[in-house]
Amino acid sequence: MITITSGKGGVGKSTTTANLAVGLAQLGKKVVAVDFDIGLRNLDMILGLENRIVYDIVNVMEGECNLSQALINDKKTKNLYFLPASQSKDKNILDKEKVATLINKLKEDFDIVLLDSPAGIEGGFEHAIFLADRALIISTPEVSSVRDADRVIGIIDAKSKKAKDGDEVIKHIIINRLKPEMVEKGEMLGVEDVLNILALPLIGIVPEDEKIISSTNMGEPVIYSDSLAAQAYQNIAKRILGEDVSFLELKSKKGFFGRLFK
Ligand SMILES: Nc1ncnc2c1ncn2[C@@H]1O[C@H](COP(=O)(O)OP(=O)(O)OP(=O)(O)O)[C@@H](O)[C@H]1O
Ligand SMILES: [Mg+2]
Repeated sequence: MITITSGKGGVGKSTTTANLAVGLAQLGKKVVAVDFDIGLRNLDMILGLENRIVYDIVNVMEGECNLSQALINDKKTKNLYFLPASQSKDKNILDKEKVATLINKLKEDFDIVLLDSPAGIEGGFEHAIFLADRALIISTPEVSSVRDADRVIGIIDAKSKKAKDGDEVIKHIIINRLKPEMVEKGEMLGVEDVLNILALPLIGIVPEDEKIISSTNMGEPVIYSDSLAAQAYQNIAKRILGEDVSFLELKSKKGFFGRLFK
């Protein structure tokens, strides 16, 4: 079970969850993407599955339907399933035991459970990280985002079940919305600046890419397109499965200046 999380909101958790879910499924894994942002769901829109929702995760946890009635099988990528969040309820409805029962069932049925966590560090977030085996922490290269990510890393280390059992959640950083031109001009933190603060291994850099916005509006994850962001997500999916893939060389359009991260 991999939780996709961040300190600051709006940094790209849901976008990352959708694209990595497709990417991992394309690599042959049976994947379920779970929208854990109860009350504010939007993973359904990014995946283009909002019209197919009948039941949601709260209905499953409350016993109002069974899991297979709530799961939506993606038509384009057959190995991919989606479990929507509820829109009418709020995060306080989550109950630790019921969440555990559901997640353990998903772990039995799928190779990979990808969980999109809500913004903030309140109740919903703690449920989202509690049973995680791995966490992908998303940060943009902005000081506020990095600082909040650092805080979240501390909470994962303190509050996850693994940590409580004396084990450790495997944690990696994804830097999202990097703008090479701004880094070159010294106007944005670079990859190494971020990693120096967070002191965790990097698993991917996703550039700022307008295609992400149009893809989200069209309900087709950007990973299906021919774009730098798509390549970045494909690479992250491979790295999650242990493949050694080198990092993209992100350069400004002018093309001068070398590699931002080796
Ligand atoms: N690399 C990128 N390039 C351009 N736009 C991006 C990129 N990543 C995310 N976005 C845009 O940023 C916005 C926020 O992304 P997203 O909804 O994935 O964030 P989030 O962390 O899930 O937000 P929340 O905390 O509210 O759940 C969206 O409009 C998305 O299209
Ligand atoms: Mg989100």
